[in-house]
Amino acid sequence: MKGILLAGGSGSRLYPLTKTISKQLLPVYDKPMIYYPLSTLMQFEIKDILIISTPHDTPNIEKLLGDGSQIGMHISYKIQQEPRGIAQAFTIGSDFINNENVCLILGDNIFHMDTEFNIFKSEVKKNMDNRATIFAYEVSDPQRFGVVEFDKNYKAISIEEKPKNPKSKFASVGLYFYPSDVVKFAQGLKPSARGEYEITDLNNIYLNQGRMSVVPMHRGNVWLDAGTPNSLMDSGNFVKMIEERQGIKIACIEEIAYNRGFINDEQMSDLIAHMTPGQYRSYLELVLNEKQRNR
Ligand code: TTP
Repeated sequence: MKGILLAGGSGSRLYPLTKTISKQLLPVYDKPMIYYPLSTLMQFEIKDILIISTPHDTPNIEKLLGDGSQIGMHISYKIQQEPRGIAQAFTIGSDFINNENVCLILGDNIFHMDTEFNIFKSEVKKNMDNRATIFAYEVSDPQRFGVVEFDKNYKAISIEEKPKNPKSKFASVGLYFYPSDVVKFAQGLKPSARGEYEITDLNNIYLNQGRMSVVPMHRGNVWLDAGTPNSLMDSGNFVKMIEERQGIKIACIEEIAYNRGFINDEQMSDLIAHMTPGQYRSYLELVLNEKQRNR
């Protein structure tokens, strides 16, 4: 399965923070925002990733993550000339997808799900090749989001973008899995009244064909969208609280790569040796030493 990380957009709700720097490169406590969605793709064992961003920001993201080989991944890049909507990811990424199933994650979405990733993985696997899978999260203010209504078999009934009268309390989160025919459907989309290729229009195609499954996230899991000043601050505080309390790191891409066997001991040592000294590097040294000691 291929992965697309969509990290462009205009970030207008975070202006002036985003005047010179991409939203996805802003800090969420101790690491750039993009580490969080990238780590989610890694937890789904997706190693071949296309990052799509703006003409201005793509070189900086590439400077940060390179070709991904240092963490046992393959990362490539494409530019979205203008923010013309989330569903454009599949036309920009059509060559990259190359008739495979694909996962799309939005660059400002932060998930903290721990072992529940395994449940999601098996749900996605069950559907793959034929059905799309989206995830839903119960929120207090559904009218701010894409709202998804589903039956007791978790088959989607309706998806509406920012409805005035939401039919459920479940927001559709920025993590989507599609069969390879998504490219064909995305190519056929027309821009909406606001001039964007809408992900909701794409999802409604699968829904109308009876090919859309919804996986509700359990309440204990956390989904944050770090796109406003408040949610950016909340996200940073959340990560800080968990990391300080537990002495671990969330979305530490090198640790995940090492623990999942994307890289071996030698590659991890090498990666650490080339890293700027500081708390992040010290943490990785600890991860490596502890794993070696416990063998
Ligand atoms: P949004 O938060 O909907 O849009 P935005 O990032 O432009 O921010 P604002 O609404 O404050 O102006 O985008 C969600 C994610 O998708 C975010 O990570 C940026 C990305 N995105 C693109 O890369 N290209 C696009 O055309 C759009 C609409 C979003």
